[in-house]
Amino acid sequence: MAAGWERRRELFARATATLSERMVDLLEPKPGQRILEVAAGPGETGFRARARLGPDGELLSTDAAPEMVAAARRRARELGLNGVRFGVEDAADLSFPDDSTDGILCRFGLMLVPDMERAAGELARVLRPGGRAVLAVWSSSRLNPWMTATGRAALELGFSEPPDHDAPGPFRLSDPERLRSVVVRGGLAVERVEDVPVTWDARSLDEWWETTRDTSRMLTTLLEQLSPDQIVTLRMQAEAHLHEYLADDGSLTVPGLARVVVATPA
Ligand SMILES: C[S@@+](CC[C@H](N)C(=O)[O-])C[C@H]1O[C@@H](n2cnc3c(N)ncnc32)[C@H](O)[C@@H]1O
Repeated sequence: MAAGWERRRELFARATATLSERMVDLLEPKPGQRILEVAAGPGETGFRARARLGPDGELLSTDAAPEMVAAARRRARELGLNGVRFGVEDAADLSFPDDSTDGILCRFGLMLVPDMERAAGELARVLRPGGRAVLAVWSSSRLNPWMTATGRAALELGFSEPPDHDAPGPFRLSDPERLRSVVVRGGLAVERVEDVPVTWDARSLDEWWETTRDTSRMLTTLLEQLSPDQIVTLRMQAEAHLHEYLADDGSLTVPGLARVVVATPA
């Protein structure tokens, strides 16, 4: 999905700017520190932290997908950022030594790793004593209609089966107890949990549909299985779930909710 994410980077960055800023504030990066971003995608959250690390600090921007790492590298070049190292890294099997980072950022990544506890364990391992990890996941699917309108419509129309809540996916850690348990079993102590609103803006329903098609693996997989008529039906039904967020000029403003966890090595 890397090409689609890169195409939609700006809309996504706008929607999640408050969240990114809050994550970096909670991380409290200091000049000279080494900060690791895991599952960085296009790299935006880590790039915000980089500004606070000064000339002697370093950001390690990593993702499991080489295409995502390439996209982040291009973005850093556009922003003229120095002191950023890039790497292809699986969150469940990091190549960094024990106690080697001062802080970790991971936004919307942990729930996609098949073995989440192992990934949390890797974060605990590479974080130095006294270091801090700031992780973000999505809150409940009900509170994130931008992302769930198509899945809901597909279910209602019988185009898909009910999702397996244990399979990697955006809402796999939406239950706060499950989230806490994964983090703690990985060897981290939870310091703080807070909900952060996200607001999605699109110029039109067309822009919402194209953005969702570009960034949702669930939708691209489903569209490959549907006929052209079924796709039209799916889209109309999904759009009906968003009508309440439409303005008179056809633009869309959809509320969403993320959850942030601050954790330290136990
Ligand atoms: C939903 S995107 C989030 C990207 C970025 N953190 C953001 O918030 O914009 C999830 C990212 O996790 C990455 N990812 C999935 N599984 C991973 C794994 N096992 N280890 C590291 N990254 C992974 C994907 O390649 C993708 O870039």
